[in-house]
Amino acid sequence: MLVAGLLLWASLLTGAWPSFPTQDHLPATPRVRLSFKELKATGTAHFFNFLLNTTDYRILLKDEDHDRMYVGSKDYVLSLDLHDINREPLIIHWAASPQRIEECVLSGKDVNGECGNFVRLIQPWNRTHLYVCGTGAYNPMCTYVNRGRRAQDYIFYLEPERLESGKGKCPYDPKLDTASALINEELYAGVYIDFMGTDAAIFRTLGKQTAMRTDQYNSRWLNDPSFIHAELIPDSAERNDDKLYFFFRERSAEAPQSPAVYAR
Ligand SMILES: *[C@@H]1O[C@H](CO)[C@@H](O)[C@H](O)[C@H]1NC(C)=O
Ligand SMILES: *[C@@H]1O[C@H](CO)[C@@H](O)[C@H](O)[C@H]1NC(C)=O
Repeated sequence: MLVAGLLLWASLLTGAWPSFPTQDHLPATPRVRLSFKELKATGTAHFFNFLLNTTDYRILLKDEDHDRMYVGSKDYVLSLDLHDINREPLIIHWAASPQRIEECVLSGKDVNGECGNFVRLIQPWNRTHLYVCGTGAYNPMCTYVNRGRRAQDYIFYLEPERLESGKGKCPYDPKLDTASALINEELYAGVYIDFMGTDAAIFRTLGKQTAMRTDQYNSRWLNDPSFIHAELIPDSAERNDDKLYFFFRERSAEAPQSPAVYAR
Protein backbone atom coordinates (compact mmCIF):
# COMPACT_ATOMS: atom_id res chain seq x y z
CA MET A 1 0.00 0.00 0.00
CA LEU A 2 3.00 2.27 0.06
CA VAL A 3 2.24 3.55 -3.38
CA ALA A 4 -1.48 4.05 -2.93
CA GLY A 5 -1.26 7.77 -2.33
CA LEU A 6 0.21 8.46 -5.71
CA LEU A 7 -2.08 6.24 -7.67
CA LEU A 8 -4.99 8.58 -7.79
CA TRP A 9 -2.87 11.46 -8.98
CA ALA A 10 -1.42 9.35 -11.71
CA SER A 11 -4.83 8.39 -12.94
CA LEU A 12 -6.05 11.98 -12.94
CA LEU A 13 -3.14 12.98 -15.07
CA THR A 14 -3.84 10.57 -17.84
CA GLY A 15 -6.95 12.61 -18.51
CA ALA A 16 -8.85 9.39 -19.04
CA TRP A 17 -11.16 9.81 -16.11
CA PRO A 18 -13.37 6.77 -16.37
CA SER A 19 -17.11 7.00 -16.44
CA PHE A 20 -18.90 4.48 -14.31
CA PRO A 21 -22.31 3.16 -15.13
CA THR A 22 -24.94 4.91 -13.06
CA GLN A 23 -28.21 3.28 -12.26
CA ASP A 24 -30.67 4.45 -14.86
CA HIS A 25 -33.31 5.85 -12.57
CA LEU A 26 -30.92 7.75 -10.32
CA PRO A 27 -29.70 11.24 -11.13
CA ALA A 28 -25.95 11.25 -11.69
CA THR A 29 -24.20 12.61 -8.60
CA PRO A 30 -20.70 13.98 -8.60
CA ARG A 31 -18.18 11.33 -7.70
CA VAL A 32 -16.13 12.35 -4.69
CA ARG A 33 -14.50 9.05 -3.90
CA LEU A 34 -12.93 6.29 -5.93
CA SER A 35 -12.04 3.05 -4.20
CA PHE A 36 -8.65 1.48 -4.77
CA LYS A 37 -10.33 -1.51 -6.42
CA GLU A 38 -12.32 0.66 -8.83
CA LEU A 39 -9.23 2.63 -9.66
CA LYS A 40 -7.23 -0.48 -10.46
CA ALA A 41 -10.09 -1.78 -12.59
CA THR A 42 -9.86 1.27 -14.84
CA GLY A 43 -6.37 0.22 -15.94
CA THR A 44 -5.32 3.88 -16.01
CA ALA A 45 -3.30 3.87 -12.78
CA HIS A 46 0.47 3.98 -12.75
CA PHE A 47 2.39 2.81 -9.72
CA PHE A 48 5.17 4.88 -8.28
CA ASN A 49 7.97 2.37 -7.86
CA PHE A 50 10.19 4.11 -5.35
CA LEU A 51 9.68 3.06 -1.76
CA LEU A 52 9.93 6.02 0.57
CA ASN A 53 8.48 4.19 3.57
CA THR A 54 5.48 6.45 3.84
CA THR A 55 1.89 6.64 2.70
CA ASP A 56 1.78 10.37 3.26
CA TYR A 57 1.65 11.88 -0.22
CA ARG A 58 -0.35 15.06 0.16
CA ILE A 59 0.76 18.09 -1.66
CA LEU A 60 0.66 18.08 -5.38
CA LEU A 61 1.64 20.83 -7.75
CA LYS A 62 1.57 20.54 -11.50
CA ASP A 63 4.21 22.47 -13.39
CA GLU A 64 3.16 22.49 -17.03
CA ASP A 65 6.07 24.66 -18.14
CA HIS A 66 8.56 22.07 -16.98
CA ASP A 67 6.25 19.06 -17.51
CA ARG A 68 6.83 18.05 -13.92
CA MET A 69 4.66 17.25 -10.93
CA TYR A 70 5.87 18.11 -7.44
CA VAL A 71 4.76 15.94 -4.54
CA GLY A 72 5.13 16.60 -0.84
CA SER A 73 5.52 13.62 1.43
CA LYS A 74 6.90 12.76 4.85
CA ASP A 75 10.56 13.82 4.78
CA TYR A 76 10.63 14.00 0.97
CA VAL A 77 9.88 16.39 -1.87
CA LEU A 78 9.58 14.73 -5.26
CA SER A 79 9.73 16.03 -8.78
CA LEU A 80 8.15 13.58 -11.21
CA ASP A 81 7.87 13.50 -14.96
CA LEU A 82 4.24 14.29 -15.87
CA HIS A 83 4.29 11.73 -18.67
CA ASP A 84 5.92 8.91 -16.75
CA ILE A 85 6.12 9.24 -12.99
CA ASN A 86 8.79 6.55 -12.80
CA ARG A 87 11.19 8.08 -15.28
CA GLU A 88 14.16 9.27 -13.24
CA PRO A 89 12.28 11.01 -10.44
CA LEU A 90 14.18 13.77 -8.68
CA ILE A 91 13.98 13.22 -4.94
CA ILE A 92 14.93 15.56 -2.11
CA HIS A 93 15.31 14.09 1.34
CA TRP A 94 14.29 16.81 3.81
CA ALA A 95 14.04 15.55 7.37
CA ALA A 96 13.92 17.36 10.69
CA SER A 97 17.17 17.30 12.65
CA PRO A 98 17.68 14.33 15.04
CA GLN A 99 17.75 16.82 17.91
CA ARG A 100 14.39 18.30 16.87
CA ILE A 101 12.88 14.83 16.52
CA GLU A 102 14.07 13.96 20.02
CA GLU A 103 12.51 17.14 21.45
CA CYS A 104 9.29 16.34 19.60
CA VAL A 105 9.16 12.84 21.06
CA LEU A 106 9.93 14.20 24.55
CA SER A 107 6.93 16.53 24.21
CA GLY A 108 4.75 13.44 23.95
CA LYS A 109 4.28 13.18 20.20
CA ASP A 110 4.44 10.01 18.17
CA VAL A 111 7.81 9.33 16.57
CA ASN A 112 6.49 8.07 13.22
CA GLY A 113 3.06 9.67 12.94
CA GLU A 114 3.90 13.17 14.14
CA CYS A 115 7.62 13.79 14.61
CA GLY A 116 8.59 13.79 10.95
CA ASN A 117 8.84 16.62 8.48
CA PHE A 118 5.49 16.35 6.72
CA VAL A 119 5.67 18.58 3.66
CA ARG A 120 2.43 20.58 3.57
CA LEU A 121 3.11 23.45 1.21
CA ILE A 122 4.71 23.62 -2.24
CA GLN A 123 4.17 26.84 -4.19
CA PRO A 124 5.83 28.25 -7.28
CA TRP A 125 8.03 31.19 -6.20
CA ASN A 126 9.66 32.37 -9.42
CA ARG A 127 10.92 30.93 -12.69
CA THR A 128 13.63 28.91 -11.01
CA HIS A 129 12.46 28.30 -7.46
CA LEU A 130 9.65 26.75 -5.46
CA TYR A 131 8.75 27.67 -1.89
CA VAL A 132 8.23 24.64 0.35
CA CYS A 133 7.20 24.17 3.98
CA GLY A 134 7.04 21.15 6.27
CA THR A 135 5.89 20.50 9.82
CA GLY A 136 9.54 19.96 10.90
CA ALA A 137 8.70 17.58 13.76
CA TYR A 138 6.29 20.07 15.34
CA ASN A 139 8.47 23.03 14.45
CA PRO A 140 7.32 24.24 11.01
CA MET A 141 10.05 25.28 8.60
CA CYS A 142 10.23 26.59 5.04
CA THR A 143 12.84 27.07 2.38
CA TYR A 144 13.37 27.43 -1.37
CA VAL A 145 13.90 24.62 -3.83
CA ASN A 146 15.87 25.26 -6.99
CA ARG A 147 14.16 23.48 -9.89
CA GLY A 148 16.32 24.99 -12.62
CA ARG A 149 15.30 27.16 -15.51
CA ARG A 150 14.37 24.31 -17.82
CA ALA A 151 13.31 20.71 -17.19
CA GLN A 152 16.30 19.46 -19.18
CA ASP A 153 18.60 21.04 -16.60
CA TYR A 154 17.62 18.27 -14.25
CA ILE A 155 18.07 20.50 -11.23
CA PHE A 156 16.21 19.89 -7.99
CA TYR A 157 17.77 20.77 -4.67
CA LEU A 158 16.99 22.59 -1.42
CA GLU A 159 18.59 25.86 -0.48
CA PRO A 160 19.38 24.90 3.14
CA GLU A 161 20.98 28.26 3.94
CA ARG A 162 17.63 29.92 3.16
CA LEU A 163 15.80 27.91 5.84
CA GLU A 164 13.26 30.00 7.76
CA SER A 165 10.42 29.65 10.23
CA GLY A 166 7.23 28.13 8.89
CA LYS A 167 4.99 29.70 11.51
CA GLY A 168 1.82 31.06 9.95
CA LYS A 169 2.57 29.09 6.79
CA CYS A 170 2.45 25.45 7.80
CA PRO A 171 0.83 23.70 10.79
CA TYR A 172 2.73 21.97 13.60
CA ASP A 173 0.39 19.00 13.50
CA PRO A 174 0.51 17.03 10.23
CA LYS A 175 -3.12 15.98 10.74
CA LEU A 176 -4.39 19.55 10.38
CA ASP A 177 -5.09 20.58 6.82
CA THR A 178 -3.86 23.82 5.41
CA ALA A 179 -4.63 25.80 2.25
CA SER A 180 -2.33 28.33 0.65
CA ALA A 181 -1.65 30.50 -2.37
CA LEU A 182 1.47 32.42 -3.31
CA ILE A 183 0.69 35.57 -5.26
CA ASN A 184 3.30 38.17 -6.25
CA GLU A 185 5.76 36.84 -3.69
CA GLU A 186 3.20 37.05 -0.89
CA LEU A 187 2.00 33.90 0.79
CA TYR A 188 -1.61 33.59 1.93
CA ALA A 189 -2.22 30.58 4.14
CA GLY A 190 -5.19 29.24 6.07
CA VAL A 191 -3.42 27.44 8.86
CA TYR A 192 -3.39 26.48 12.54
CA ILE A 193 -0.44 28.43 13.82
CA ASP A 194 0.14 27.12 17.35
CA PHE A 195 1.61 23.96 18.82
CA MET A 196 -1.72 22.98 20.40
CA GLY A 197 -3.61 23.39 17.11
CA THR A 198 -6.32 25.68 18.52
CA ASP A 199 -5.48 29.01 16.87
CA ALA A 200 -6.58 29.04 13.24
CA ALA A 201 -6.03 32.05 11.02
CA ILE A 202 -5.66 33.21 7.48
CA PHE A 203 -2.17 34.67 7.29
CA ARG A 204 -0.33 36.88 4.86
CA THR A 205 3.44 36.53 5.06
CA LEU A 206 6.59 36.96 2.95
CA GLY A 207 6.61 39.95 0.61
CA LYS A 208 7.47 43.48 1.60
CA GLN A 209 4.40 44.34 3.63
CA THR A 210 4.15 43.44 7.32
CA ALA A 211 2.62 40.08 8.13
CA MET A 212 -1.13 40.12 8.72
CA ARG A 213 -3.63 37.67 10.14
CA THR A 214 -7.34 37.36 10.82
CA ASP A 215 -8.52 38.04 14.40
CA GLN A 216 -7.33 35.59 17.00
CA TYR A 217 -9.97 33.41 18.69
CA ASN A 218 -12.79 35.31 17.00
CA SER A 219 -15.42 32.78 15.98
CA ARG A 220 -17.06 35.35 13.72
CA TRP A 221 -14.04 34.95 11.49
CA LEU A 222 -13.19 31.29 11.83
CA ASN A 223 -14.60 28.61 14.10
CA ASP A 224 -12.55 25.38 14.20
CA PRO A 225 -12.08 25.49 10.44
CA SER A 226 -10.86 22.66 8.33
CA PHE A 227 -9.11 24.32 5.38
CA ILE A 228 -9.68 22.83 1.95
CA HIS A 229 -8.37 25.11 -0.78
CA ALA A 230 -7.43 28.67 -1.72
CA GLU A 231 -8.04 29.97 -5.24
CA LEU A 232 -7.55 33.34 -6.89
CA ILE A 233 -10.72 34.23 -8.79
CA PRO A 234 -10.87 37.40 -10.89
CA ASP A 235 -13.88 39.64 -10.35
CA SER A 236 -13.54 41.53 -13.60
CA ALA A 237 -10.91 42.43 -16.18
CA GLU A 238 -9.42 44.80 -13.59
CA ARG A 239 -6.59 42.79 -11.99
CA ASN A 240 -6.75 44.91 -8.83
CA ASP A 241 -10.23 43.53 -8.19
CA ASP A 242 -9.02 39.92 -8.09
CA LYS A 243 -10.13 38.07 -4.99
CA LEU A 244 -8.59 35.16 -3.19
CA TYR A 245 -11.21 32.73 -1.93
CA PHE A 246 -10.60 30.33 0.92
CA PHE A 247 -12.72 27.21 1.02
CA PHE A 248 -13.13 25.51 4.37
CA ARG A 249 -15.53 23.68 6.66
CA GLU A 250 -16.28 24.89 10.15
CA ARG A 251 -18.62 24.52 13.10
CA SER A 252 -21.53 26.90 12.92
CA ALA A 253 -21.47 29.80 15.35
CA GLU A 254 -25.07 30.69 14.46
CA ALA A 255 -26.62 27.98 16.63
CA PRO A 256 -24.14 27.15 19.40
CA GLN A 257 -26.61 24.76 21.09
CA SER A 258 -26.67 22.44 18.10
CA PRO A 259 -23.38 22.93 16.31
CA ALA A 260 -23.31 21.74 12.74
CA VAL A 261 -20.45 21.71 10.29
CA TYR A 262 -20.82 23.99 7.28
CA ALA A 263 -18.89 24.44 4.08
CA ARG A 264 -17.87 28.10 3.55
C1 LIG B 1 9.44 2.67 8.12
O1 LIG B 1 8.36 3.22 8.87
C2 LIG B 1 8.00 2.47 10.00
C3 LIG B 1 6.75 3.07 10.62
O2 LIG B 1 6.34 4.27 10.04
C4 LIG B 1 9.17 2.43 10.98
O3 LIG B 1 8.83 1.66 12.11
C5 LIG B 1 10.40 1.84 10.28
O4 LIG B 1 11.53 1.90 11.13
C6 LIG B 1 10.71 2.57 8.97
N1 LIG B 1 11.75 1.90 8.22
C7 LIG B 1 12.80 2.53 7.72
C8 LIG B 1 13.75 1.69 6.94
O5 LIG B 1 12.97 3.72 7.85
C1 LIG C 1 14.18 33.11 -7.55
O1 LIG C 1 14.19 33.23 -6.14
C2 LIG C 1 15.33 32.69 -5.53
C3 LIG C 1 15.09 32.75 -4.03
O2 LIG C 1 14.82 34.02 -3.58
C4 LIG C 1 16.57 33.46 -5.98
O3 LIG C 1 17.71 32.95 -5.37
C5 LIG C 1 16.66 33.34 -7.50
O4 LIG C 1 17.74 34.12 -7.97
C6 LIG C 1 15.36 33.81 -8.16
N1 LIG C 1 15.42 33.50 -9.59
C7 LIG C 1 15.00 34.34 -10.53
C8 LIG C 1 15.09 33.86 -11.94
O5 LIG C 1 14.59 35.47 -10.26
